[in-house]
Amino acid sequence: MTDTLPMRSDHCGTLRADDIGRRVALCGWVARRREHGEHLAFVDLRDHTGIVQCVVDGSADVRSEYVVRIVGTVRARLEGTENANLATGQVELGECEVEILNVAEPPPFQLDDRVGVDEMVRLAHRYIDLRTERMQRNLRLRAKVNGALRRAMDDQGFVEVETPMLIASTPEGARDFVVPSRLSPGQFYALPQSPQLFKQLCMVGGVDRYYQIARCLRDEDLRADRQFEFMQLDAEASFASQEEVLAFITVAISAAVEAVTGEHVADVPRITWLEAQERFGSDKPDTRFGMELVELTELFADTGFNAFKAACVKAIRVPGGGDATRSRLDDLTDKAKRWGAKGLVWMRVKEGGELDSPVAKFLSEDELAGLVSATDAEAGDLLLIVADERPKVWHVLGLLRLELGRPPVSEGGLEFLWVVDFPLFEALGDDGRPIPAHHPFTMPHADDVHLLDADDPAELLNVRSQSYDLVLNGWELGSGSVRIHRSDIQSRMFGLLGISEEEAQAKFGFLLDAFRFGAPPHAGFAFGIDRLVALLAGEENIREVIAFPKTQSGSDPLTHAPTPIDARHLDELGLRLLPPKKAD
Ligand code: AMO
Ligand code: AMP
Repeated sequence: MTDTLPMRSDHCGTLRADDIGRRVALCGWVARRREHGEHLAFVDLRDHTGIVQCVVDGSADVRSEYVVRIVGTVRARLEGTENANLATGQVELGECEVEILNVAEPPPFQLDDRVGVDEMVRLAHRYIDLRTERMQRNLRLRAKVNGALRRAMDDQGFVEVETPMLIASTPEGARDFVVPSRLSPGQFYALPQSPQLFKQLCMVGGVDRYYQIARCLRDEDLRADRQFEFMQLDAEASFASQEEVLAFITVAISAAVEAVTGEHVADVPRITWLEAQERFGSDKPDTRFGMELVELTELFADTGFNAFKAACVKAIRVPGGGDATRSRLDDLTDKAKRWGAKGLVWMRVKEGGELDSPVAKFLSEDELAGLVSATDAEAGDLLLIVADERPKVWHVLGLLRLELGRPPVSEGGLEFLWVVDFPLFEALGDDGRPIPAHHPFTMPHADDVHLLDADDPAELLNVRSQSYDLVLNGWELGSGSVRIHRSDIQSRMFGLLGISEEEAQAKFGFLLDAFRFGAPPHAGFAFGIDRLVALLAGEENIREVIAFPKTQSGSDPLTHAPTPIDARHLDELGLRLLPPKKAD
């Protein structure tokens, strides 16, 4: 090349009419080549900023995904050939000299048309998939979020502390990933499900305000919002109340949202766990749409209809849902039953408030009229009613509400919500022991501590905790709590959970010990960065905002992990493999 330009003077996607007349050097990948007559070809050149059209000599041997440097002169496109869909659509590069920096095999899939591209193929060639506009945008958005979070935490006086990856177990409710120890055969490290115990130890260590953008690992079934490894913005503060935690997390979240959307997050509304369940049938309500649960228990207190003789009767009103076909209604009934309901009553609302339902004949005039008025039903609506124990009614109607009303992730804006006053225990297990709703380090609500000593274990379910969740568009974004900071209360909690003193000592002795050496009161929070970024990017699955994610079955089609290890390596670790389990 005879030009005196640097390797790259500009980026492809940045050229505009203002640049007309400039001689520029661009580097990138050939997105597309189209022949133009006998002697010329159009080459769309792509880098991370976008695409620009270059008019090159037809003899240049450049093909899809070749890596090239093109030196050319920016000129206006011929009138009528401008492309309004392209940021650079007013211009093109002419008088081009093309230098091939590297050749490429034909790509296994079309980069500009990912609809219909099998995800396994995309993930197996993730390095090509990452070149797409969507993945470039998502990765850059993620980096912006990380940067904004770091700045927001630094500005609020938090100290970034890195905690270890090879640890003893941290109970967060999932299975641990374990790593065999070579130096201590038969012994295993666990990979952290979160830095929970270490951040609490940091508080004992006088760190005062800790944060970390922390990698967490959990061996659990994967879903759209779950990966084995994921990132948390993890934080903890000494002498802090729940109010302070909510405040500093809101600042961090706002900074991230503002960095991406330019919009400021107004005050995040707050709702109690109980109200969330009563109104939305969920502890992570999607508040982007209405269809709230309507209380009908009183209305049917003396009903003659057997199905409604229950501890709780509630309904949802589906606006305009009255045109649902019988098969759709049967499908909803089947779903409700699968979710645990005994049945589902549906009613189509007709003109004049008449209710069309197979069970209408079992209800009194007053009940029918009361139903219309309680639900504000209008002609054309559909009413769905479930009667059962209260938590069951929440659960089933909450899921029906989502099924029938939930907008796609990318619509309806960002609805943040704090859910506070979670119960300490979510249920009693088969052994009669309570199951913690958060984790066993959560402080009970001061007013409810006496209930921990109640004779009736069912009373335990009424104990509120000082824990809180942050919800965004119906996704649980994060959780936190005021912690137990006294070893006597922590031991008692382990006792309630059926963790014997020996077991507690063996597993968490170091934490209980630390608490005996001057642990300050402390509280904290962690939220999932993958989830936040996915929602900000309008993606339904967190895989789309992770550079190298695992598939639903937990494998990586790119590196083929997990892979076997050789016999010598197993030997060194003191491990022997059992024959593979037969499928049931
Ligand atoms: P928790 O277990 O609720 O709390 O986790 C906090 C947040 O981490 C994200 N998250 C996940 N993201 C992707 N894939 C997963 N498998 C996954 N699991 C969790 C979620 C979740 O809300 N130590 C406590 C926090 C604390 O009390 O300070 C904890 O980890 O967004
Ligand atoms: P059954 O009396 O079981 O024949 O039910 C009569 C109707 O009421 C059917 O449409 C059932 O789906 C419905 N149903 C039964 N049990 C319940 C319940 N617990 N909640 C709501 N609907 C119910």
